[in-house]
Parts: sequence; C-alpha cells; structure tokens
Amino acid sequence: MSKREPELKITAEEIQRIQKIIKEVRAKNDKEFVRTGKQKTYYITTFGCQMNAHDSEKLIGMVEQMGYTPADKEKEADFILYNTCCVRENAEHKVFGKLGALKHVKARNNDLKIVLCGCMMQQEKVLNTIKQKYRHVDLIFGTFNLYKFPELFLASIETSGMIIDIWKEHKEIMEDLPSIRKYKFKACVNIMYGCNNFCTYCIVPFVRGRERSRSPEDIVQEIKDLVQDGVKEIMLLGQNVNSYGKNLEDQTSFAELLYKINEVEGLERIRFMTSHPKDLSDELIEAMRSCEKVCKHLHLPIQAGSTKILTAMNRKYTKEEYTLLARKIQDAIPGIALTTDIIVGFPGETEEDFQDTLDILKEIQFHSAYTFLYSIRSGTPAATMDDQVIEEVAQERFSRLLGVLNPIILTHSEALIGKTIEVLVEEVSKQAEGILAGRSDQNHLVHFAGKEELIGQIVSVKIIEAKTFYVVGEKV
Ligand code: 5AD
Ligand code: SF4
Repeated sequence: MSKREPELKITAEEIQRIQKIIKEVRAKNDKEFVRTGKQKTYYITTFGCQMNAHDSEKLIGMVEQMGYTPADKEKEADFILYNTCCVRENAEHKVFGKLGALKHVKARNNDLKIVLCGCMMQQEKVLNTIKQKYRHVDLIFGTFNLYKFPELFLASIETSGMIIDIWKEHKEIMEDLPSIRKYKFKACVNIMYGCNNFCTYCIVPFVRGRERSRSPEDIVQEIKDLVQDGVKEIMLLGQNVNSYGKNLEDQTSFAELLYKINEVEGLERIRFMTSHPKDLSDELIEAMRSCEKVCKHLHLPIQAGSTKILTAMNRKYTKEEYTLLARKIQDAIPGIALTTDIIVGFPGETEEDFQDTLDILKEIQFHSAYTFLYSIRSGTPAATMDDQVIEEVAQERFSRLLGVLNPIILTHSEALIGKTIEVLVEEVSKQAEGILAGRSDQNHLVHFAGKEELIGQIVSVKIIEAKTFYVVGEKV
C-alpha cells in the first residue's frame, strides 16, 4: 500500500449482510426457545490486553444480538469462547489447559459450541496443535476477521467438524459493530490497529498486522454516540497511539485528534494507551497540557533501563533520551502520573544492565509499572539471540525489581493523604461490604464507603489512608 492511501472501511452493505445473519441465528434460537423453554447461554473468557477486552465487548454485542444470554458458569454454557493472547507464553498455556478440560464437557454435551479467536490463532504452530490435539473445538477465527464471526458461527451451527478461518493480513477497517460495554459510563474506542515497530521480543506486529488508523470523523462520531449513551470517560486504544494518522490522507496527528475529542460536549475524561516514547511529540505534550479532559496520566513503556538492552530490543531510544522525555513531560504537566512497562531477563541482560533498570525506576519515580519476565516468542528476533538469561536469574531480578518498585508506588499513594480528589466511581469493591472503588484523574485506585447509586458518577473523595496499590478515602 502507498503511504498516503486511505484505509478501506467495511461497506454498509457488508454490515447489513452481517446484521441479517445475526437475525437468522436469533430466529433459530427463538424457535429453540419455544420448543425447549430454555434460553441459550454463552461464556466468554478474555486473555491479554485492553484491545482484546474491547474486541470481546464487540463479540458479546454480536452474541447477545444472536439471542444468547450470559451463563453463570462456563461448564453450563451452550457456547464457550476464548479470546486469546500470545504476548507471553503463560497466556498460551492457560488456553491449552482450559481447552483440555473442555474435552469432557463437550463429550457430555455435543451441542456445545467451542470457539477460539484472537492473537494466538494467528500463529500456524498453534493451529497445528489444535488440529492435532483439540479436535473438540468447533470454530477458529483470527484478529483480522472478527466482524465475520456471525457468518462463521452460523456455518458452524449448520455443519459439524472444525471450521478455521484465519486471514494473514487485514482487509477492511472494522466499523459499526454492535458492542456491549462492561461499564455504562466508560468505554474503549479503537483509534488504530496494528503496529509497525517490531520490538525484537514482541509478537504483536506478526499477529495484529501493520498500523492503520480510523478516520477522525468516525472516531469523534463514535465518541459522541457513546456520550449520548451515558459515557463519561473514554480510553483511546492503539498499540502505538503516537503514530496515529500517518496513513490518513490528511495526516491528522494524534495531538490534533485529542483537540477534536476534547470538544465533545458531555465527555468528561479522555485516556489513551499505549504511547511509544520514540514518537511522543512536543505537540502531544502541549495537547495533553491544554486539553482539560485529558487525564493527568501517561502510560509510557520503557521496557528496560540499559541503552544496550534498549538497542537490542529495537526500541529506538536511549536511557538518557527516555529520562529527558519523562522530565519534559513532568515539567510541562505538573502532577502527571507516569506509568510504565518493564521486561526483566531480556537476552543479554547482565547484572549491570539490570542495575540500569533499577536506577531509572528510582530516577523517574513511576506511579506504577506492569512488570514482566521476558518470555521467548518464536518467530521474533529475540527468540534466537545468544545469551538467553536463565530463569532463576531472571526470577531473582524480578523479585528485586518489585522490592524497589513497590515502595516508590507507595510513596505516591502516601502523598495523596489529606488531599481531596475527583473519583469516577466504577464498581462495588470486592474487598469489603459497602465499599466502592473508582479511579482518580491520575488513575489511582480509590476505595471509599458509599452507596451503589454513586456508580458512574464523579465524586470528591478525601484520602485518609495509603496502601501500595490503592488508597482509602471518605466522600466529602
Ligand atoms: N516477554 C515479556 N513481556 C513482553 N511484552 C511484550 N512482549 C513480551 C515478551 N515476549 C510486554 C511489553 C509490552 C507489554 C504489553 O507486554 O512490556 O509493553
Ligand atoms: Fe509490541 Fe513494540 Fe509494537 Fe508495543 S510497540 S506492540 S511492544 S512491537
């Protein structure tokens, strides 16, 4: 594709065709309901990132339109779907483990439909394993043809045997799929798909394809519709939001997109992830500073503190460049919470390299970090690099990393004591009765006593106690 060529969208006719199939499945299910008096049920399990979680919301939207209701327990469902992740090996192990356990469930109930989709399915090796060892799976599709799900599902109902439909690359950009949000008051919005960065450890570019951006008009329209439907906070999703717009005809930048979204009336909070440090422009920092709806939180994965390791990872910045960028952001937007991702045990990581990671944690004082043990992904350049770090060494470094990180996180929580902050109330906390949980602008998890009616509202909470991963407050 030439650089400026706009992306093709799914046509309105295609969406109508899919909607017709959804109705057809629904009619079948309604008939069954009349015959048996039993509503068909579904159970969907999502692995991995927010992108997958959002894809699952679209799948749930389609499944419910097809006449399925949620099952309380997986083994009681008529339809079981795993939306899979392959970023790290343990996510794959979990899927195979669960699939193995389903063999008996399927043996007892031949009408059960078992469906697999998501990143793991884009890998030839995985497909071969499923074909050989997990013959009880009914339908497999991938990351590029999610919207075809109703059509594939109908085919699966009408035939027996395993149906596999995996596309090697994307065709049209997905628009206008029905989706059912987990929360009424907050929503994710895809602004782009895919990634062009090829960090050497990462499988994502191989399973999610090249970068392609949705048009600003479609994004803003979707957000306006969401706000009409009660949404106060949106999370803009992309593997690398800072390179948004590069394939668009008018080359709208991510900063320009933020200004447009900031104008949507009724919207209160804008979040986004993920940002790659190499593409984070001054224009974006200025947009974050001046758009009052953009939250004071930036997730900026560093991955490692050693320039040698960053180079081997193909991250395209040095330790010093990251530090300067972080300082620039902290100076421009006082009070901003920086969070990050860190990988421990990348091939070639020496004790000295690891010390660089610890140093940068102390230097930047991140509000929080997702920490990962390096996981070999076959097909990526890092998988065949020399000097793979032995597991015990990586594990030991991982524990030391948390030993440095957790007190830093706690310091940020403690700094909130006595302050009153605005919290979007999300749910009843699982920790204790009568306690609500919500998020501050800086993305702190806040617990406080309150009634369920407050869910979905932004309330003021005075912080009285600090824990490492949350703070406790009182509604004022
Ligand atoms: N091993 C460990 N962590 C990984 N990530 C991506 N690939 C791997 C891998 N092979 C982490 C990165 C990324 C996050 C989403 O997952 O830190 O930012
Ligand atoms: Fe993976 Fe790097 Fe792309 Fe993130 S930027 S999805 S880590 S290749």
